[in-house]
Amino acid sequence: MHRHDAVVIGGGIIGLVTAWRAGQRGLRTAVADPEPGGGAAQVAAGMLAPVTEVQYGEQALLELNLAAARRYPSFVAELEETTGLDLGYRTCGTLAVALDADDRAQLRELHAFQQSLGLASEWLGGRECRRLEPMLAPGVHGGLRVDGDHQIDPRRLAAALVRACELSGVEFRRSRVARVEVAGDRAHGVVLEDGTRIAAGQVVLAAGSLSARIEGLPARALPPVRPVKGQVLRLRVPPAYAPFLSRTVRAVVRGGHVYLVPRENGELVVGATSEEMGWDTTVTAGGVYELLRDAHELLPGITELPLTATQAGLRPGTPDNAPLLGRGALDGLVLATGHHRNGVLLTPLTGDVMAEVLTGSAVPAQAEPFSPDRFALQEQQA
Ligand code: GLY
Repeated sequence: MHRHDAVVIGGGIIGLVTAWRAGQRGLRTAVADPEPGGGAAQVAAGMLAPVTEVQYGEQALLELNLAAARRYPSFVAELEETTGLDLGYRTCGTLAVALDADDRAQLRELHAFQQSLGLASEWLGGRECRRLEPMLAPGVHGGLRVDGDHQIDPRRLAAALVRACELSGVEFRRSRVARVEVAGDRAHGVVLEDGTRIAAGQVVLAAGSLSARIEGLPARALPPVRPVKGQVLRLRVPPAYAPFLSRTVRAVVRGGHVYLVPRENGELVVGATSEEMGWDTTVTAGGVYELLRDAHELLPGITELPLTATQAGLRPGTPDNAPLLGRGALDGLVLATGHHRNGVLLTPLTGDVMAEVLTGSAVPAQAEPFSPDRFALQEQQA
């Protein structure tokens, strides 16, 4: 039996940033995960794109996403300084382009919506788009230049967070959680599949898409999180083709979203499908075909590049696409999950919020709209 102040279920980037901040605040903290730093961060493209990914009806989430984007530079500086590792943070901006009249109309609407919200984005004609990104197809009719939407390499981010945790004394238990231990109305630890028991004052549920599958919690304490599959491709830009792209390029092609994220190290990540397929993580011919077809329409030269990997991961989706941050339905249970499309973007803020919650402070005001009890309250009111 091990006694901790906090045990974090899940060693993805959200669990890791939570554990790091808890460790920094002097809490004796453990992370339970067979493979810390694995999971969705190994698949994600790492776009930090609150403006280009803004959705109607999600203004509260937009505020959180914008705050996270503003927090990124100081977060990266601190984590790089702490670990000596390069996170691949690239302040390169984004260009969202349109190929046909329908796509253009949709992008024009997005631009109007962004302007109504006071967000910085600039409409460009097709020629101006190609001046910025000469590899774009002649058929690109126009686009939105968003200089504030950046990117980071999520694999590097995950590796740095593991290191930062180690440096702040966080203990890693490389085993899956078999169940949460609950007595009365209180969570007081976990039992691992290897049989180890970890007693803890606070249990943080940060298991991403698996968060609703954790045994031991009563139904009312389980978060409404479901897996949303995303397939991505990884290509390499050989030096002779560099720079293939200088910023993230994205588009809606016949209603489907595609984005291309160029890393400084020559990797090009193409994403992503969004599929309600349960726990399936099969890479399908159809998924790869659609991504390549759409990417090829935007950038015909892409077919010359070596394809180095195809992958599928699971986003933790919630009913309103927003995360669950704060105290759960049991004493001692804290939630940091359900980040859906914004896990990488929201990592720094999630760490800040969890540091406050785990040290007994009030939930920061910006996280209040994302209280885990909001769905239960909606049900009561219905
Ligand atoms: N935020 C990008 C994605 O979830 O595909």
